[in-house]
Amino acid sequence: MRIDSILNVSNIDDNVESNGWISTCRKQKNLCFIKCNDGSCPEGIQLIVENLDIDTTLLQTGTSITFKGKLVDSPAEGQKVEVKVTELKVLGKTDPEEYPLAKTRMSLDTLRNLLHLRSRTSTFGSVFRIKSEISFATHLFFKENGYLHLDPNVMTVNECEGGAGVFQVTENDISDLSNLVYKDGKYDWNYDHFNKPVFLTVSSQLQLEALSCGLGPVYTTNKSFRSEHSSTNKHVSEFTHLEIENTFIDMEYLMNIGEKYIKFLANYLVDNCTSDLENLNKFISKGLIERINKIASSEFKIITHKQAIDLIQSSDLKDKPNHGEDLSSESENWLTEHFNGPVFVTHWPIKIKSFYMKQCDDGTCESFDLLMPYKIGELIGGSMREDDYDKLTSCMDDKNVDKSKMKFYTDLRKFGSVPHGGFGLGIDRLCMMFTGMENIRDVIPFPVQYKNCDL
Ligand code: 4AD
Ligand code: MG
Repeated sequence: MRIDSILNVSNIDDNVESNGWISTCRKQKNLCFIKCNDGSCPEGIQLIVENLDIDTTLLQTGTSITFKGKLVDSPAEGQKVEVKVTELKVLGKTDPEEYPLAKTRMSLDTLRNLLHLRSRTSTFGSVFRIKSEISFATHLFFKENGYLHLDPNVMTVNECEGGAGVFQVTENDISDLSNLVYKDGKYDWNYDHFNKPVFLTVSSQLQLEALSCGLGPVYTTNKSFRSEHSSTNKHVSEFTHLEIENTFIDMEYLMNIGEKYIKFLANYLVDNCTSDLENLNKFISKGLIERINKIASSEFKIITHKQAIDLIQSSDLKDKPNHGEDLSSESENWLTEHFNGPVFVTHWPIKIKSFYMKQCDDGTCESFDLLMPYKIGELIGGSMREDDYDKLTSCMDDKNVDKSKMKFYTDLRKFGSVPHGGFGLGIDRLCMMFTGMENIRDVIPFPVQYKNCDL
């Protein structure tokens, strides 16, 4: 039985048995108090070990054990029940001199250097259980809304977001360049796996569009990969990218389903992750549950990019963007604070957006970014897609997009083109919002970031 079931389902005087790792062990003569957890709940369970024939020097923080006993009322503060142990076996010993996790709370920075062990801590247990629930609830939501879950290839010839920076894929060991074959002074791709340059995807959008223009509502939870050199608390080189795509819809529909999804998740997590949210609310991010409830009930404001710039211009921010320019993180935070909640910024200038966005007559495009409060900033980027062949190809020319690799994409505009659109949402950023963690590296089990790939 897992420890959360013992705590939530078992009755006093029941015989119980379980396994786990010792988080603390207090020893007295013939008596030990062990806090044991198996990763099923934030608090773990207290074990009382009395007069057992066991070498107590083995009972150390980090040691794995299996135990049997009787569930009894606990006189100790902060817990209702404990287990009076009748049988205890040590499965894996731990040398206390070597074990890096302390009995007391450790800083998130320190734990980031112990990626392989931090899931044993109460904080990361809560974060990763919540992340798993986010994944489950995401599939629940999109299934209920009629979407098909299909994951396109992540090795691809297209670079989708021109400026996002790609990683190139090769089967050759490039540590020794003299072993590679060259032609006319350049690397000869004919001697590589795909006979041409291939990249890790920065976004599955283009392939999803192809699926959608046949199937309708589709989504993926693929990883996306970006080689941009950013080591901010919101950027990683590899992130979980929820992308949806749908046909015969408009931009209002897209913003609406994005908002509905976020609110669905907020309510789902409050209902299903109570003890983990309370744990994080208490020890990591005061006010977390209140903030999640607020997101669930707040109005998501909609303003155009032009209105956003006008507003920011009237603020006392130091560096203010001008019309036609991108929004800095500071301006994003200012906007969400100004409106005291989430804000959709729509109709961005096509000049600073991607080639695929549906063009309007005034130099803008039918696009939106969703900015979230609490310093999360941009969570969603989405748009209607240009469905007119001529407009699309001429914008690709303007932006120097290589059309030769994109025939499949432009073809979609030749054979029964329809209004369609979609968005991409960073699941890891969403997880920051719902756990109160302030660094994206603390919501990803094994984060990979510029100059940082350890496992
Ligand atoms: O705004 P982005 O770059 O949009 C696209 O890739 C579109 N093709 C999506 C689409 O329409 N299907 O990325 C979408 C979201 C961002 O809003 C952000 O939440 C997240 O992906 N994101 C990152 N998350 C973590 N680390 C990074 N380096 C990220 N880059 C983008
Ligand atoms: Mg974006």
